Amino acid sequence: MEKTLIILKPDAVQRGLIGEITSRFEKKGLQIVGMKLMTIPASIAEQHYAPHKGKPFYEGLVRFMTCSPVVVLALAGKDAIVIARKMMGATFGSKAEPGTIRGDYGVSNAYNLIHGSDSPEAATKELGLFFKADELQTWKPTIQEWVY
Ligand code: TYD
Repeated sequence: MEKTLIILKPDAVQRGLIGEITSRFEKKGLQIVGMKLMTIPASIAEQHYAPHKGKPFYEGLVRFMTCSPVVVLALAGKDAIVIARKMMGATFGSKAEPGTIRGDYGVSNAYNLIHGSDSPEAATKELGLFFKADELQTWKPTIQEWVY
């Protein structure tokens, strides 16, 4: 099973959307294998967004991501990375299609509620940044034979 790293960003937590968003992934059939509430240390946010270093939005992005608690999720499933990205919608809330998380809950460019790994390489790096090995659970959902 592929794994992906999801972050429910500070705006999602502040707006009381943890349950709404997490519930979509559960209902879709993606399995939660890691989950915690945390305030992201600046050094982790900087490493996480290193590919964007130097861009005009980078410093504000790091400030935003570290200003208030987030929920980090590790989700597992076949094609979990692409599926989660589709469910998130386009980067900017104003552009994201209705039916997606960003399209249904947000209008902002910067406060876009959610992060999801965009490749297997990114997922491996990001899962390692946010979860220790013993914080990820291996469990077999009893419903799995009805999901696949
Ligand atoms: P990016 O990796 O391009 O988007 P995504 O989160 O959809 O993978 O950008 C990372 C975050 O940076 C994005 O979620 C919101 C923020 N951002 C801005 O604030 N302004 C911008 O112009 C861009 C491209 C991104």
